[in-house]
Amino acid sequence: MNDISLKRPTILRWSGSKAKLVPDLRRLSPRTFNRYVEPFAGSACLFFSMGPARAILGDVNPMVIDVYRAITRDFHAVADVLDTIPMTGDAFYTLRAIDPATLDLTYRAARLIFLMKACFNGVYRTNRSGKFNVPMGSRVYALPTREELSRAAAMLGGATLIAGDFQTTIAESTAGDWVYMDPPYRQAGRYRGEYGYGAKFDDEAFEQFVVVAEKLAARGVQVMVSYQYDERLIDALKGWCVHSVTAARTVASKTASRVHAREMIMTSYPSK
Ligand SMILES: C[S@@+](CC[C@H](N)C(=O)[O-])C[C@H]1O[C@@H](n2cnc3c(N)ncnc32)[C@H](O)[C@@H]1O
Repeated sequence: MNDISLKRPTILRWSGSKAKLVPDLRRLSPRTFNRYVEPFAGSACLFFSMGPARAILGDVNPMVIDVYRAITRDFHAVADVLDTIPMTGDAFYTLRAIDPATLDLTYRAARLIFLMKACFNGVYRTNRSGKFNVPMGSRVYALPTREELSRAAAMLGGATLIAGDFQTTIAESTAGDWVYMDPPYRQAGRYRGEYGYGAKFDDEAFEQFVVVAEKLAARGVQVMVSYQYDERLIDALKGWCVHSVTAARTVASKTASRVHAREMIMTSYPSK
């Protein structure tokens, strides 16, 4: 573990971030591990809190991985672009309207960092044609400083980055690694495009996730899962340790409201 963890936990503001659970997640980390593997990375708050020397980060959303690639390649360039963006609603809607495919990696990354800091509740959502369509929130949160980007770049230097499904990322893990899985909560009924179209986490994806978690543990990988409190998952992952935790969450609705959500952390290995 290196000693460069970020003061603010992440570069991206991200709905579904487990920032509030970081103390619990750290407490429940295994005693030792080879590589840290996070296949549903999002803002990767645990990764940025711990700064593991060797890691694999994956997310099915290529825009997220592009942010980490851009910072790794040249964090100064990303900081330079962020410096030019006015913290205004006009800037938000102008940047939102730009097709990210027309931008280079640096600008694409800066655009997403800004949009997430300014959008409603830090939700990443796209319409059917893949266009980011979340409205502006009530304020623009502070953008990462050059120093924070520099620290993130140092941490990401030891990480392999994968834009792809969680199965692709965990295929890289081997016995002794620590895999932290924080999948989207299972969605029933109408799918609203949370995390972008194509990142649907339905019953079928959930079943695959359970099978994968069991297989990983069976081959000597240390697995930690965070999820909403769910008896079905507890039943499915037999013999795993269950740690019940609560987290204050903002619920996305017309009027954002705070609830204390009952969540859990499951580990395939015993507590320290
Ligand atoms: C609950 S969020 C993870 C939040 C993260 N732990 C953090 O602290 O920010 C779930 C993430 O999984 C990603 N995702 C959704 N479906 C996926 C899939 N099939 N494979 C890999 N990543 C997926 C989403 O893009 C999202 O970033």
